[in-house]
Amino acid sequence: MLQKSSNIVWHEQSLTKELRRKQNGHNSFVLWFTGLSGSGKSTVANAVAKRLFDEGIKNYVLDGDNVRHGLNKDLGFSEEDRKENIRRIGEVSKLFVDGGQVVLTAFISPFAADRELVRSLLEDDEFVEVYIKCPIEECEKRDPKGLYVKARQGIIRDFTGIDSPYEEPVNPELTIETNAYSIEDSVEKIIEYLKKRNFIS
Ligand code: ADX
Repeated sequence: MLQKSSNIVWHEQSLTKELRRKQNGHNSFVLWFTGLSGSGKSTVANAVAKRLFDEGIKNYVLDGDNVRHGLNKDLGFSEEDRKENIRRIGEVSKLFVDGGQVVLTAFISPFAADRELVRSLLEDDEFVEVYIKCPIEECEKRDPKGLYVKARQGIIRDFTGIDSPYEEPVNPELTIETNAYSIEDSVEKIIEYLKKRNFIS
């Protein structure tokens, strides 16, 4: 995105990411959950957040439905708006990581290029893409917010998986099939990965 403001100079902070991590006693990184509406992104993200919290790891969940009530309430569901949604969340996530916290994001984030943009904002060991995989038939059956029904009726336009695309991650760090695993098993799989790769100890 083009920078509109000129005459601004980056100001180095005296407290660094490394100092904040050291004080917190853990690493900081992004767990980026992507998947269809109703796939279980928020449920799994919140369950992982609770587990990290219980282990003394400072974290915060950024959730599409919530962020769209505040920071991103000026955005809709056109391709352009979704792109801007993800760009902003990527930047906010980077700030959290800089602040020494783990951030868990639960956004459909349907476009591969947007997810890659967020990855590129961060260091290699700061971004974990978690594909919450669930067949659309199952998401539609769950329909926790009644949105698939409305999309089928044409009341909601540009609905992901119905009349707006979802680009599956090609090489995510993790794939969790929520129609095959319980929430507890999904959390376990994620925690196991984070430990194995030394994101957490
Ligand atoms: S994203 O595509 O820009 O990443 P985001 O995760 O923020 O989407 O928001 C998706 C949530 O908004 C869905 O879980 C659903 O509750 C709601 N929603 C409302 N309209 C739509 C739509 N047209 N497509 C997808 N989700 C929608």
